[in-house]
Amino acid sequence: MNMTALMKTYSIALLPGDGTGPEVSREAVKVVNAAAAKFGFKLDYTEYDFGGDRYLRTGETLPDSAIEEFRKHQSIYLGAIGHPDVKPGILEVGILLRTRFELDQYINLRPVKLYRKEDCPLKDKEPKDVDFVVIRENTGGIYTGVGGAVQKGSNMEVATQVMVYSRPVVDRCLKYAYEYTRRRKRKNMLTLVHKCNVLTHCGDLWVRAHKEMGDRDYPDIKQDYNHVDAATMWFVKQPEWYDVVVTENLFGDIITDLAAIVQGGLGVAAGGNINPDGVSMFECMGGSAPKYTGKNIINPIAAIAAGGMMLDTLGETEAAQAVDRAVTAALNSGKIQSLAAGRMGMGTSEVGDLVASLV
Ligand code: IPM
Ligand code: MN
Repeated sequence: MNMTALMKTYSIALLPGDGTGPEVSREAVKVVNAAAAKFGFKLDYTEYDFGGDRYLRTGETLPDSAIEEFRKHQSIYLGAIGHPDVKPGILEVGILLRTRFELDQYINLRPVKLYRKEDCPLKDKEPKDVDFVVIRENTGGIYTGVGGAVQKGSNMEVATQVMVYSRPVVDRCLKYAYEYTRRRKRKNMLTLVHKCNVLTHCGDLWVRAHKEMGDRDYPDIKQDYNHVDAATMWFVKQPEWYDVVVTENLFGDIITDLAAIVQGGLGVAAGGNINPDGVSMFECMGGSAPKYTGKNIINPIAAIAAGGMMLDTLGETEAAQAVDRAVTAALNSGKIQSLAAGRMGMGTSEVGDLVASLV
């Protein structure tokens, strides 16, 4: 009997993308496949060439059929997008944001985990101090694009871009965050980050929704609140305070970059764009780093960690944990000298081999 035919198989849309995207995705696939082999399942990848080169060739970011294609898969894995010859914004809006919106990936999940003390820019912080998760609302707020400009180009030009939130959009994000906090079983604390002292409409909505849901459905979870400006200080001063942080879209965009550097930078920062009932998309937070393309010097750890997150979301919890342990072991093996491109002391594919061997 052919056992592979009976094996549980997940279908993945693979978008290697631009620059170093294909190099880091290759390592992610390597490690994820090693975990799949160990835990007895398979991943079946369909590759798509969306990105800067295709846009320059065809004028198209995502063909309309792409979203329908994505829906046929169980997950999407994205290398990186961004091309030096394409004006900033086109690929981000046309590929990343469009997929987030059309597949209703309303959660941006960003684990903030320091693997090694020496990678942290903060004095005296160690891995035990930097281990939290930011849950960013991923499709609402200012990103909805409500607003416009009048008398454009004149000296009277007026532009607005409005923070838009409805109660259901806030509630579904908070529900995910509370559930995540409960599942995480660490400090059982959900910190809401907003700016309710000034944003008296949107902030107030989030604050009430956070409290009402917490009081009603999650009495076991402590409720905590930071203004976003203060959160930027506390992420640096006392990252060990946090367990799970939930916030609106733009604030989340900003504080997750701050969090990324606290955990060691873009070489290790991974994220997921999640639709809990649909098709999610995983990516490393670093860009396409075009100047390093094809040199086998870019750090693939973040891309590998994103692959681990994908396994977790597919329900392969043990395999996901194995990837995380392998990443931790590889980084603490003494073999990877630095997280910076070109200074790892080994090549991109060698780092992938090392992590795969430790799964
Ligand atoms: C991110 C990115 C995107 C965002 C850009 C590229 C549109 O910065 O995923 O954090 O702003 O959400
Ligand atoms: Mn960002």
